[in-house]
Amino acid sequence: MKIVAIETSCDETSVAVLESGFKVLSNVTQTHIEHAKFGGVVPELASRAHIRLIYPLTRLALERAGVELKELEGVAFTRGPGLIGSLLVGVVFGKTLAQALGIPFLGVNHLEGHLFSIFLSYPDLKPPILYLLVSGGHTELIYMEDFFKYRYLGRTMDDAAGEAFDKGGKLLGLPYPSGPVIDRLSKEGDRNFHKFPRAKTPGYTFSFSGLKTSLLYYLRKQDEDFIKSHLADIAASYQEAIVDMLLDKAQMAFEEFKPPVIAVVGGVSMNSRLREVFKEHFGDKLVFPEPRYCTDNAAMIGAVALKRFERGESSPLDISASPNLPLV
Ligand code: KG4
Ligand code: ZN
Repeated sequence: MKIVAIETSCDETSVAVLESGFKVLSNVTQTHIEHAKFGGVVPELASRAHIRLIYPLTRLALERAGVELKELEGVAFTRGPGLIGSLLVGVVFGKTLAQALGIPFLGVNHLEGHLFSIFLSYPDLKPPILYLLVSGGHTELIYMEDFFKYRYLGRTMDDAAGEAFDKGGKLLGLPYPSGPVIDRLSKEGDRNFHKFPRAKTPGYTFSFSGLKTSLLYYLRKQDEDFIKSHLADIAASYQEAIVDMLLDKAQMAFEEFKPPVIAVVGGVSMNSRLREVFKEHFGDKLVFPEPRYCTDNAAMIGAVALKRFERGESSPLDISASPNLPLV
């Protein structure tokens, strides 16, 4: 079966065309650049950008896939979690397209999309899988016992890992989003330059806001020249603390569940130091999505929908956007 999938939960408009077997025929993504000068996502600007981009990107995705509208057998869209105004664009567009074509549609959970992103790179992979989901909005440990059967282990109590990168970057005077910038800068820095405190949180929970505050106080104590000349060292030390805390809890879960596979997914899974450290610890049992499926994309939404459509599922006409939609 061939389907079209739409992702508009935050500041990326993305449309993909997929075929059974987690085959991606096309995946076009446009990141909204207008947010950079504000140092974070402005919801109203995101909604407007989605409205502007959704139609031309859908046309482009179909054209690149070499698929005509009449060949489609289903439409998938992200229904949450995310920004309400942004989600609504995808939900309304997706439902309308499906209704016009007379085919079923499915509202997909964005977090489940990130979990399924791994099947786009490893189509034969099967659960059980232990997941560390690390993005701009989420930091969660999830055990997928079987397809669509999840055990929620824990999440962050305050900031997400991506937020820790972005907010830390702001304090260091780096552009938004700062995750990739800190990653690059850290390669030239000494990660043992300063030891930032690691939060001790209960069970499988995480906390990053204390780390951000300790960076703020550390920077306040230094003069400008010192910060300028040691920017890469400070960035590398800060990044090391984030990676350390993520590894600590992932290791704890790995020891408890002894899964055959551990997957790290979401935007922060692009981080090269995280990839290096996790590889050292988990070796061949560790998998990552390809970089283009780490950050927000429609192909991962389509991956969930393909599997659900094949089980005979579809959404009712009154389904709407759900900004705080939980995974389970
Ligand atoms: O998954 P994603 O695209 O969007 C959300 O659903 O949030 O993740 C975006 C987050 C941002 O916070 C960004 O700074 C972070 O992922 N990120 C990185 C890297 N690339 C993206 N963080 C650290 N290192 C990277 N290389
Ligand atoms: Zn995401």
